[in-house]
Amino acid sequence: MKYVIGNQKTYLSYEDAVKFSKISNKSTENVKVIVCPSMPYLSLFINNNNEIGSQDVAYQDIKATTGEVTISQLKSMNISYSIVGHSERREYQQESNKLISKKVKLLLDNDMIPILCVGETKEEREAKKDKEVILKELIEVANDQDITKLSKIIIAYEPIWSIGTGLIPTKEEINDTITYIKKVMKDNYQVNVNVLYGGSVNAKNVEELNSIDVVDGYLIGGASTKEEEWNFIVNSVISG
Ligand code: PGA
Repeated sequence: MKYVIGNQKTYLSYEDAVKFSKISNKSTENVKVIVCPSMPYLSLFINNNNEIGSQDVAYQDIKATTGEVTISQLKSMNISYSIVGHSERREYQQESNKLISKKVKLLLDNDMIPILCVGETKEEREAKKDKEVILKELIEVANDQDITKLSKIIIAYEPIWSIGTGLIPTKEEINDTITYIKKVMKDNYQVNVNVLYGGSVNAKNVEELNSIDVVDGYLIGGASTKEEEWNFIVNSVISG
């Protein structure tokens, strides 16, 4: 199974989100297409043939947690995917691996699918610490999980220096890092996980990226908010 997951972040106005929510991107037998709208627009996207994901979830499922989106709310909308640990949340909301781990556990315990983001900064990469950082992000989350549920996790490898910049690693580098992530999960937890690439995926580079066998799909930010480009990427993965 390949995944094309759109992370619309906070890009769209309400008016543009209404327009976007009318686009139908049906999953196929081999490709799951999931749109993660901005949180206030989630309900616009249900019941329109699209599979929907959340961009985040509160770490505790309680009734009174102002400003959050809880797992019970997502479940009540039949949403079964949630991004967790996106680098923007790690940076702007100071989310730690510990907190992210709690969110992953809550999702797995509720039979939902976490899309766990990992990846290194430019400085970490230049210091050749990228694998060390990724290992820590994986282990500190995976160690807390029920190993029988761990294979449900989708991991998104997103080099932080690549997000929104137009810069992407070479095909060899993507292949190498994704192979490494799969090996860490296999060697330590005996699970085969799906690993996506994210960071400046667009209509121009998707066909080239499709040729990297170990990549199980993409997490797409900016390009998932432009109708024509999004449709092009989805069709390119479907026609494979
Ligand atoms: P981008 O973002 O495609 O705009 O680089 C990817 C992401 O942050 O998930």
